[in-house]
Amino acid sequence: MKDLSVANVEMVYDVPNGTPVHALSNVTFDLEAGRLLTLLGPSGCGKTTLLNILAGFLAPTGGSVSLGGSVITGPDKERGMVFQQGALFEWLTVEENISFGPRMNRANKAETKEKVNDLLRTVGLANFGDKRVYELSGGMQQRVALARCLANDPDVILMDEPLGALDALTREKMQGLVLELWKETGKTIILVTHSVEEALYLGDRLFVMAPRPGRVEKDYELPFAEQGLQVEPRELKASPEFIAKREEILSIIWEMEEETMGRQEAS
Ligand SMILES: Nc1ncnc2c1ncn2[C@@H]1O[C@H](COP(=O)(O)OP(=O)(O)OP(=O)(O)O)[C@@H](O)[C@H]1O
Ligand SMILES: [Mg+2]
Repeated sequence: MKDLSVANVEMVYDVPNGTPVHALSNVTFDLEAGRLLTLLGPSGCGKTTLLNILAGFLAPTGGSVSLGGSVITGPDKERGMVFQQGALFEWLTVEENISFGPRMNRANKAETKEKVNDLLRTVGLANFGDKRVYELSGGMQQRVALARCLANDPDVILMDEPLGALDALTREKMQGLVLELWKETGKTIILVTHSVEEALYLGDRLFVMAPRPGRVEKDYELPFAEQGLQVEPRELKASPEFIAKREEILSIIWEMEEETMGRQEAS
């Protein structure tokens, strides 16, 4: 199992003919293997930037990131990404989408077939292997995206608002699926969300991020993800402990928003 280590990460985007954007400032944290970390924060605080750096799509302008002691220098199948809209291959079937990674790696065909069938069952799409992506609902597409990521057997799963485009009911069901997968696979998951409730429910650790420059403002250890595997989601989300944390975090975010608005008015 590989721990993640993020040390003094800086990200400054150069903008042609404009002021450079300081998207991340001094981001430093260690994350043990098998944790589920949620990232919450207002638009522009650097959540996607941080995920892209962890995925190896983007090199930080300062500091370093390593997994299991090896510095991350580019994309690798040990780190898988799930995007907000599945980013699936529209012209391929569900099965072909999920088996894409293993096929690229020339994995054994029979083993891949078996793996795909297992994954289809895991994400509740057992009879959908032959379907085309456009025949599926948004929730089903996100489940395919999750299965496609799992097919590469990554150590770390990075998810950028994976449930953001779903209706409330489907979203709640998918939250349950994320928790089950987390528990069953023991993988490290980092999930970005705009929903305070979702960040609290899924994260066994939660960062509240702040903008200009993007940074980690608060770091919480939370009990709800563990409990969520035993207790009904509605019951858990209505519990006094959950509501108290939710209000605490909402007030931090409101303060941040007001400060940002005030600064904009002043300038
Ligand atoms: N390629 C780029 N070039 C210049 N600036 C960028 C680039 N990508 C992101 N930024 C800027 O960096 C900051 C952080 O962007 P990022 O996309 O990481 O935020 P985010 O927290 O994911 O926001 P959202 O919640 O809206 O998705 C923003 O101010 C954004 O405008
Ligand atoms: Mg983003």
